[in-house]
Amino acid sequence: MPERQKTKLVPVPSPNLIPERDVDKSPILEAQHLGIDFGGLTAVNEFNMAIGRTEIAGLIGPNGAGKTTVFNLLTKVYQPTRGTVLLDGKDTHNMNTVQVNKAGIARTFQNIRLFDKLSVEDNVKIGLHNQMKYGTFSGLFRLPAYWRGEKAAHERAMELLSIFDMQDLAGVKAGALPYGAQRRLEIVRALGTNPSLLLLDEPAAGMNPSETAELMDNIVKIRDTFQIAILLIEHDMSLVMGICEGICVLNFGEIIAKGTPEEIQNNPEVIRAYLGSGKEA
Ligand SMILES: Nc1ncnc2c1ncn2[C@@H]1O[C@H](COP(=O)(O)OP(=O)(O)OP(=O)(O)O)[C@@H](O)[C@H]1O
Ligand SMILES: [Mg+2]
Repeated sequence: MPERQKTKLVPVPSPNLIPERDVDKSPILEAQHLGIDFGGLTAVNEFNMAIGRTEIAGLIGPNGAGKTTVFNLLTKVYQPTRGTVLLDGKDTHNMNTVQVNKAGIARTFQNIRLFDKLSVEDNVKIGLHNQMKYGTFSGLFRLPAYWRGEKAAHERAMELLSIFDMQDLAGVKAGALPYGAQRRLEIVRALGTNPSLLLLDEPAAGMNPSETAELMDNIVKIRDTFQIAILLIEHDMSLVMGICEGICVLNFGEIIAKGTPEEIQNNPEVIRAYLGSGKEA
C-alpha cells in the first residue's frame, strides 16, 4: 500500500479539529455536547466533533463504546437527550431520518440492510428514489416522464455500481451476493442519495485483507470523486490508520482522544482503553 499524504489538523471554534485544507469552509458537520441516555444508562455524553468538507474521519473505540449510537444520533434514528447537530451549519433538531438524509447524510449499517430479494440494481434505485423527477401520476400511468426517469435511474445506478466494478452483478439478487459485495452494495446505495456526508459503520467487517485493502482505496476514491466527507467506524486499524485524517476515540460513551493517526496511535489513554477492553480492536 503506498504511503498516503499526511494531513495536518487545525482547530475550529469549539474543541474540534478539521483538516487544514477544509478550514476555509465551515465544517460539513458539527456535533456539540451531544448525548443520549437509555433509562439509567448514559450511552453517549459530551460528544463534540467537527468534520471537514472533504475529510475522511474515523470513529473508533472498544465494543459497546457508543459508536453506532453516535451514528443513530446523527441520523435521527434516536433523538438526542442533549446537544446539537449542525449539518452544513443548519440545526437538525427538528428533522427526522428521511429529512436528515435529504439534507445530506447517508449511512450504511453495521448489520447489512439490503432488500435481499430485489436485484442489485433495484437496491441502488431505491436510494435514487428521492432524486426522481417524475411525480406519482406519471409513475402510475407510465407516462413519458416516467420512462425518462427510469432510463436516467438505470444509467445512474450503473454509473454508481461501476465504482466497485459491480455492473455485471446488476441483475443478481442482493441476498445471493457474497458478504463483501453486500457491504459494497450498501455503500453504493447510500451514495445514490447524493450525500455530502457518508457514514460507514464497520465497512470492512467480514472482509478478507485483500478486500479490505481494495475498500480503502475505494473509500479514498469516493471522497476524491464526489468531494464529500466520510465518517467511518471501524475495528480494522490498518484501514483506520491508513486512510483517516482525523480520528476520534470513544470509550464508555465519552471521547477520550482526538487527533491524527500518529497522535492516536501514541496516546497512552487510547492504548489503555484498547488493552483494557481485552479485545483486539
Ligand atoms: N436502543 C438502546 N437501548 C438501550 N441501550 C442501548 C440502545 N442502543 C445502544 N445501547 C447501549 O449503548 C451502548 C453503546 O452501544 P453501541 O452499539 O453504540 O456500541 P458500539 O461502540 O457501536 O459497539 P460495537 O463496536 O460492538 O458495535 C451499549 O451499552 C448498548 O447496549
Ligand atoms: Mg457498533
